[in-house]
Amino acid sequence: MANKPAHAQALLELKNVRVHYGGVKALDGVDISLFDGEVVALMGPNGAGKSTVLKAIAGIAPVDNGTIAYCNKPITPVVHLMAHKGIVLVPQGRRVFTRLTVEENLELGGFIIKNKNELKERIEDILKLFPALKKKRTERAGTLSGGQQQMVALARGLIVNPKALLLDEPSLGLAPKLVKEVFAKIREINQIKNTAILVVEHNVRTLLETVNRAYVLDKGKVAAEGTAEKILKSDILEKVFLGKLNG
Ligand SMILES: Nc1ncnc2c1ncn2[C@@H]1O[C@H](COP(=O)(O)OP(=O)(O)OP(=O)(O)O)[C@@H](O)[C@H]1O
Ligand SMILES: [Mg+2]
Repeated sequence: MANKPAHAQALLELKNVRVHYGGVKALDGVDISLFDGEVVALMGPNGAGKSTVLKAIAGIAPVDNGTIAYCNKPITPVVHLMAHKGIVLVPQGRRVFTRLTVEENLELGGFIIKNKNELKERIEDILKLFPALKKKRTERAGTLSGGQQQMVALARGLIVNPKALLLDEPSLGLAPKLVKEVFAKIREINQIKNTAILVVEHNVRTLLETVNRAYVLDKGKVAAEGTAEKILKSDILEKVFLGKLNG
């Protein structure tokens, strides 16, 4: 997999970001960047701060120190304004509206698009990427399989045509074959739409074939950063997952 091109612009840049939840230090001075058109993985054990990184960018987690820049400008993320800016978070846990149809779920993803015709066009455009969903567009999302529901969550995130898509454990709870499908779809989205993607993932090997770069988080800090190959060849994952870092 190619590394980021030398001329690429940093789309998102977190510098020294700290987040506290009461007395809990969730992020302790994190530097992370996402360049135009990249797929970047966030890895690390439970509680490392992965979801908090995405939430900080999406305006959900309280950033009490450091800076977040988007398109080279410092921003203060406010949750309901992020879709307008082109930043979309697909949260952990396949949150689809089970009683609504696939199409209605996609309409909700496009809540900021006021022009009905434009919204319809966006939905058609996105459904081209998800042929399996197209066939089920009038069915309730709750009747779909877990893998298909994850595709609905992905498709819904794409309706506003984001520049940066933040995916929190998109393969959680899916069978290995479906995990592969979800990752193939992520790669396809990135290639067809040129969407930059920051993805939290536990399925280390499947993921490293899909991503350009990866960050390994441990206890609220970046423990390692590099190409997928570099991370795989090192013993950093074993160390952080087995709690062996720093002795
Ligand atoms: N809303 C919250 N209130 C208090 N503490 C929180 C909250 N959200 C997260 N934390 C704490 O912050 C730390 C980082 O949590 P985070 O959810 O970012 O981890 P994670 O790497 O996504 O873990 P997982 O792999 O389990 O999803 C953990 O210690 C967690 O308990
Ligand atoms: Mg998490």
